[in-house]
Amino acid sequence: MPSDRKNHKKTYREQAEFRERGLLVAGEVLVDKPGLVKHFRIANKEVNMERITLNNGVNMPILGFGTYQIKEPAECIRCVSAALRAGYRLIDTAQAYGNEEAVGAGIRASGVPREEIFVTTKLWFRAYESGVARAAMQESFNKLGVDHLDMVLLHWPFGNTYAAWRELEKLHKEGRIRAIGVSNYAPSQLIDLMEFNEIKPAVNQIETHLLAQQQELHALMAERGVAHQAYAPFAQGRGERMFEAPAVTTAARAHGKTAHQVALRFLLQQGIAAIPKSAGEERIRENFDIFDFALTDGEMEALRAMDTNRPFIGNSQDAETAAFAMTW
Ligand SMILES: NC(=O)c1ccc[n+]([C@@H]2O[C@H](COP(=O)([O-])OP(=O)(O)OC[C@H]3O[C@@H](n4cnc5c(N)ncnc54)[C@H](OP(=O)(O)O)[C@@H]3O)[C@@H](O)[C@H]2O)c1
Repeated sequence: MPSDRKNHKKTYREQAEFRERGLLVAGEVLVDKPGLVKHFRIANKEVNMERITLNNGVNMPILGFGTYQIKEPAECIRCVSAALRAGYRLIDTAQAYGNEEAVGAGIRASGVPREEIFVTTKLWFRAYESGVARAAMQESFNKLGVDHLDMVLLHWPFGNTYAAWRELEKLHKEGRIRAIGVSNYAPSQLIDLMEFNEIKPAVNQIETHLLAQQQELHALMAERGVAHQAYAPFAQGRGERMFEAPAVTTAARAHGKTAHQVALRFLLQQGIAAIPKSAGEERIRENFDIFDFALTDGEMEALRAMDTNRPFIGNSQDAETAAFAMTW
């Protein structure tokens, strides 16, 4: 907890600054160095966990655990449970990952109370028609073994997105889903959805890493109050050269951290949430151990210069990507 009142005052000033920049961090927050934010919560236990307050007031952990391609049930249960024991409090899954049952079992196996965990799933676009979307969501509740979800995203901006969004709006109003959002939405699609529907998406989950930083979309989202959540923060291992770039290795050496920790810290320090995946327990812990250092302005600038603005996976405007998605 804060050791003196001076530190405490600084905390709330910092929070106000974050709010002004649209990077609202809520909760009981202590900032001990500029850019280094710690969140303290959970029954007297100190937890280093920054949270983002979404546009509907719901708090979302800024770092979560991704479960794409962890399909084998025993492995998925082991990884989800290990992540929660390591301190993660957000688990990201999707209907299309085929692992919702195992994710639910992993949550229960961890021993961490359900109410401490932010669970996200994604509605698959083949189920976007009204009626179908509700049944698909009920299936997710059943598979995960939960009576409510913290967040549900439209996985891709394809198919009958309007019908699906309105079904999510209803489920949100019924109290079954605390926050609703989208994924893989390009600027025009995001603006369109926001203009013609009642509830604004709380989050847009998009591919974001050092080589595809989404700077323009980030600015648009910040302006419109949509939180930026980065998927594939390690580019799914497709951009290995990014971990050998001098900007990354120099920062890693300076802080005694790994290249992957620098890649995650770079996102979090801009108020971008991230959901790295690993199937290895050591890496699961490594990816969470990023709350005790802050990159300098110079390091942030050098890392920002690595942007090539070309996503590997998630450009919904790209014909090849769209055609591939249709084969799922
Ligand atoms: N909304 C969408 O359309 C969408 C699309 C893709 C992903 N996602 C979500 O985002 C999450 C993360 O993305 P992702 O899983 O695609 O890819 P990612 O997190 O960018 O990368 C995962 C890869 O990085 C490796 N890795 C993890 N930690 C490492 C470390 N510390 N050092 C070295 N290598 C490390 C993993 O290997 P090991 O497993 O062997 O450690 C795995 O090969 C997904 O799991 C999913 O929840 C969403």
